[in-house]
Parts: sequence; structure tokens; C-alpha cells
Amino acid sequence: MDEKLVPLISQSEIATAVQRLARELDRDYQNSFPIVIGVLKGSFIFLADLIRQMQTPICNVELIRLSSYGCSTTSSGEVKMVMGLAEGIINNKNVILVEDIVDTGLSTSKAIEILKTHNPSSLKLCALLDKPSRRKVQVEIDYLGIEIPDRFIIGYGIDMNEKYRQLPAIYAIEE
Ligand code: PRP
Repeated sequence: MDEKLVPLISQSEIATAVQRLARELDRDYQNSFPIVIGVLKGSFIFLADLIRQMQTPICNVELIRLSSYGCSTTSSGEVKMVMGLAEGIINNKNVILVEDIVDTGLSTSKAIEILKTHNPSSLKLCALLDKPSRRKVQVEIDYLGIEIPDRFIIGYGIDMNEKYRQLPAIYAIEE
């Protein structure tokens, strides 16, 4: 049966949040050539929009992949690393980790834990969405776009069973 998609965050609200985040990053990273690291798959659209709004030159874009949700709509709590970083690539670099959403925090805290073992000179988190009501582990979001309620959301890179990533706005699902 088809799900009902309820509009939650419009394209223009997303664009406003992305522009604000890019300005905050420009303010803090001018002349420091950060590396931007996106967490696949969900962050790929946010990452692409964010870096195109940034004026600050970035020295590299990297992508890592962690998997936790599988085909379920709730987190299994198991976080696995599926794709990582080449050795030495963020050594002594300023790293901006880019997430689409921080939900339980399990994926992001795992990503941060892994990145710290690669010896970055600094490591900050930029997340488009925050769902604090679901947090299981504490995660400090240095650059936050929009706080959202405890709804299952899709669109703008975020999926349900791999569907809906292509939608340009964000919707809540009602099954
Ligand atoms: C989603 C999302 C975040 C993570 C947040 O990824 O993209 O990375 O979950 O959830 P958490 O805070 O509860 O860990 P997911 O594991 O669904 O993979 P995907 O991005 O490839 O869809």
C-alpha cells in the first residue's frame, strides 16, 4: 500500500537553511581549506547543495558510508562501517562532517569516533536535520539546519526502503 506523504519542510525552507549553514561555515573556515566529509547515502544531496553555497575553498570532498537502518523504519541500533577513508587523507586537516539527519545519534557518533582515529586537526559536525527526541547517545551538532519532531521523514536524500531520496522537499510519512 502507498504511504501518505505529508509536507514537512519545503524546498525554500531547505534552501534558506543550507544558505545559512554555508555562511556560518564560511565565517569559521575562511582560509583554512577544510575537507568536507559526507555520510552516504542520505547526505549526498545536502552535501552537494551545501558546498555549492560555500565561498570558502575546500581542499577535498570525501564520502564515508555507515549502515544501520537497513530496510526498517526504525533504527536497529547496530552501526556498521561499509566504506571508509584512505589512510592519512584527513591527517592534520580541518574536517567538516556532513550528515543529513541526527536521529538516535548512533551513526554520527560512530562516524566521529572513526574520524578521530584518523588524526584530524579539527572535526566539526554540520547536520541539516536534528531529531533530538530520539537521541540515544549524545552528539554535539556544531552547525544545525532545522530541528524536527519525531516523525519518519523522507526526501532530499533521505529514504524509506531506498525510495523517495530524489524528492526535492522533505515529507513525513503516514502509513
Ligand atoms: C540515516 C541518516 C543518518 C542516520 C541517522 O542513515 O542518513 O546517517 O540514519 O540516524 P541515527 O542518528 O539514528 O544513527 P541510514 O543508516 O538510514 O543510511 P542511508 O543514509 O544510506 O539511508
